[in-house]
Amino acid sequence: MSNYHIKHLEEYFQLYRKSVREPENFWEEIAEEHFVWKKRWERVFRWDFTKPEVAWFEGAKLNITENCLDRHLYVRGNKTAILFEPNDPKEEAQYITYKQLHARVCKLANVLKEQGVQKGDRVCIYLPMIPELAISVLACARIGAIHSVVFAGFSSQALATRINDCDCKMVITSDGSYRGAKTTDLKGIVDQSLESCPGVKSVLVVKRTAASIHMEKGRDHWLQPLLDKVSDVCAAEVMDAEDPLFILYTSGSTGKPKGMVHSSGGYMVFTAYTFKNIFRYQENDVYWCTADIGWITGHSYIVYGPLANGATTVMFEGVPSYPDYGRFWDVVAKHKVTQFYTAPTAIRALAKESLDFVDAHDLSSLKVLGTVGEPINEEAWHWYNNNIGRNKSPIVDTWWQTETGGIMISPIPFVTPTTPTYATLPFIGIQPALMDEQGEELMGNQVEGRLCIKFPWPSMARTIWGDHKRYYETYFSTYKNMYFTGDGALRNAVGYYRITGRVDDVIIVSGHNLGTAPIEDAINEHPAVSESAIVGFPHDIKGNALYGFVILKEVGESRDRDNLRKEINQQITEHIGPIAKLEKIQFVPGLPKTRSGKIMRRILRKIASQDTDNLGDISTLLNPEVVASIIKDAL
Ligand code: WT7
Repeated sequence: MSNYHIKHLEEYFQLYRKSVREPENFWEEIAEEHFVWKKRWERVFRWDFTKPEVAWFEGAKLNITENCLDRHLYVRGNKTAILFEPNDPKEEAQYITYKQLHARVCKLANVLKEQGVQKGDRVCIYLPMIPELAISVLACARIGAIHSVVFAGFSSQALATRINDCDCKMVITSDGSYRGAKTTDLKGIVDQSLESCPGVKSVLVVKRTAASIHMEKGRDHWLQPLLDKVSDVCAAEVMDAEDPLFILYTSGSTGKPKGMVHSSGGYMVFTAYTFKNIFRYQENDVYWCTADIGWITGHSYIVYGPLANGATTVMFEGVPSYPDYGRFWDVVAKHKVTQFYTAPTAIRALAKESLDFVDAHDLSSLKVLGTVGEPINEEAWHWYNNNIGRNKSPIVDTWWQTETGGIMISPIPFVTPTTPTYATLPFIGIQPALMDEQGEELMGNQVEGRLCIKFPWPSMARTIWGDHKRYYETYFSTYKNMYFTGDGALRNAVGYYRITGRVDDVIIVSGHNLGTAPIEDAINEHPAVSESAIVGFPHDIKGNALYGFVILKEVGESRDRDNLRKEINQQITEHIGPIAKLEKIQFVPGLPKTRSGKIMRRILRKIASQDTDNLGDISTLLNPEVVASIIKDAL
């Protein structure tokens, strides 16, 4: 029996039990047999959730890029590692082999060194979904620099906050980006950000759109001429298993984004092992995850997990609707994609369109379908299963988070029987717990509570960059000795988990994790606004959309409301990015508050969802009269 590739349900249960009873032995075997280390660990893991302190494979030395690149050169050097499908279907796809990828990563690594980037330095990567994005990530890892990828849909202010938070000394970007019919001036956005980022010493610019852009003398460099001058050999830096590999920002309940820090040894082991099993990857498969590398899904399941397994991983620059709603299926047919991993919001958007867009393409290559990012509703699940999976490709509904680094709860295809809307069973080594409001664990089946994890796993984030106290408070202070996820979940009669959604101030819109506080901060900066509150409400395609309740200052009272709405959304676009724009904005005389001054979001959520029959007891509010007036004018 190979522990690495799980083939039967009995095997899953056996391994799961082993991973709980003898976690050291279990993980040691996986780590030993399937990865290359330069030096062995002294201890498999160590943990103390009260601090929290977690370390995996301590004392071991490795470089993750040797596991993702070098070790494949002899076995599959001419196999495609990255298959790049451009935004415009008329532009040719690129097939980058393991040998070529290795050479390109080494070259860029040498450029980084030449520019003065050293082990431990932070490099911000702000690029569209072009091969250079994956190459930049790997080049940083090659020399031990910590990459911080910022999704190229974030605004200049959001970018600047992230650059400054972790003191990046370099930014890698492109002249522009293509997404659907739209071209974006990425370099212009970077220039704006850098006005408030004195720590950035150099900017490397990839040529993509050939737009004419400003190049700051002494700071900005076109990447290609630098690459032309350096060698394609670069020794991999020897890293400790616990050295930070990357920082990735996620939104939180206060305005400041949280820079989640991931380390290299445990992250590598867990993302590779989950990738292999949850997508049942086999040599010669073509795996496609439609996420952007700007999110954790792309880090773990476009770059590191697939490459550590020697897979062919597709990178798609475009959007599902361009040039038409058949694009995903066109790409699947063209490249004979075998595993397809996307978000419920994309499925819902495509399900609204004619089935002709699906039927025009041969989807017979597909073997496994995946979904991630938010709960998948029953209707979308069936549409995906019937029309894309033809009732024969299992759907893996994978629950996890930026903080968890890898997939935590998911079926294993052809092993775990699936049930629509259920993420089913914990992956090997993952020990979930459901907690009640009093802090007691709910034992047995058919219970619903708050989802926690009670034992460490190799790819968990180690801290929040520069703020370990916040790491403790956010995730480890709610329940003693538990990692609290922020999600609610239920466990059904057979022990399957279903994620019911966030129980905190995070709202998931089109699979993007948005905190209410940063959006409210952005709105409140508008000169006509005195206060605001954001809540989510159900939306057909986006899953949730944002509803803003806004109190105007006196100066705003006489202004045209539609113009104000536009300005508020413009304000949000500038501070965060278009993904955080409000669907509805209602101007209100006041916000329902508790006597201690806390906004009662529960009431606002009900109003936004048009579910005001049962508001519960509002008599304890400081200002109960305001509720009726908000309901009267609700949009
Ligand atoms: C939150 C994490 C990790 C991948 C992308 C999102 C929600 C994620 C599922 C799922 C129900 C899900 C949770 C989670 N979520 N996957 N399969 N079913 N909800 O990463 O931005 O860190 O968001 O996404 O609410 O806490 P993220």
